[in-house]
Amino acid sequence: MAPKLGVIGFGNIAKAIITPLLEQNVLQPEEIICLVNSKKSFENIKINYKYKINIYHLNSSESNLVWHCPIKLLAVKPQQLKNIKEINFNETNKYFLISILAGVSLKTLETIFPKHNCIRAVTNIPITIGQGLTGIAWNNDIDDKNKIFIKNIFENSGKVFELSEDYLDIFLALTSSAPAIIALIIEALGDGGLSGGLTKKLSEELVIDMIFGTVLMMKDLDVSPSELKNMVTSPAGTTIAALRILEKKGFRSALIESIMGAMNKSKEFK
Ligand SMILES: NC(=O)c1ccc[n+]([C@@H]2O[C@H](COP(=O)([O-])OP(=O)(O)OC[C@H]3O[C@@H](n4cnc5c(N)ncnc54)[C@H](OP(=O)(O)O)[C@@H]3O)[C@@H](O)[C@H]2O)c1
Repeated sequence: MAPKLGVIGFGNIAKAIITPLLEQNVLQPEEIICLVNSKKSFENIKINYKYKINIYHLNSSESNLVWHCPIKLLAVKPQQLKNIKEINFNETNKYFLISILAGVSLKTLETIFPKHNCIRAVTNIPITIGQGLTGIAWNNDIDDKNKIFIKNIFENSGKVFELSEDYLDIFLALTSSAPAIIALIIEALGDGGLSGGLTKKLSEELVIDMIFGTVLMMKDLDVSPSELKNMVTSPAGTTIAALRILEKKGFRSALIESIMGAMNKSKEFK
């Protein structure tokens, strides 16, 4: 079977993207060639990864094989990008290279990989449990058949949105950075429970289940956030007492600014 997908950097996020493709038989292990940096990671994957993919490390004689694949997933850390040297064995057509690196623009990718048709995908950590949100930006040189295949890579572990590259920074802020904001809110609400006398463990369990139930209700019953807020806020009651404090402390504005901060930081990376 000819190799179809090359993975440059088979770390946490690449594994989260590739494993569902293997589980659902979208690709067979022998169709995937993965490259890691160290012999240690190579041995670890060779022994512990449940699928027998072709895996190589940078110092092995076969490390160039990854570049034979018509589609590549680039999944190294942004600071490791400078160590990647492009090879394209196809003299007539450009191969495809999908980068999931935070903040690295299509223009930069096309400068580093001139022999490849580059695609940018921004994904988020829930992709590790099949609940990812992925924003994809591509240029006009990609035909529909390849677009479908590339989208399918991410659709197996969540939802995919095709966006103009201009919107990838705000997409990243809202989907990729915001899980940390939610985690911080959960932790802080848990500390609220702790202040009121509950254990930390019980407080956090209650907060997580409360958020889960609230979000599910919004989705299942198609209730908007403002409608839900009004449902639970009665005149002179406990909830409006809590909301008053948040408004006074600038909570809503802090959240808006946090998203703008993440977006602006992402723009700086280019
Ligand atoms: N974490 C997130 O929430 C998130 C979400 C979306 C996107 N991303 C993006 O995903 C990318 C990967 O993140 P990660 O958390 O999966 O990182 P990671 O677990 O550290 O994986 C990086 C992988 O790249 C390999 N590598 C390093 N240098 C290499 C080289 N020169 N050639 C080939 N392989 C090389 C590493 O091999 P060794 O193990 O041998 O060093 C490792 O397998 C990042 O660019 C990040 O911006 C992350």
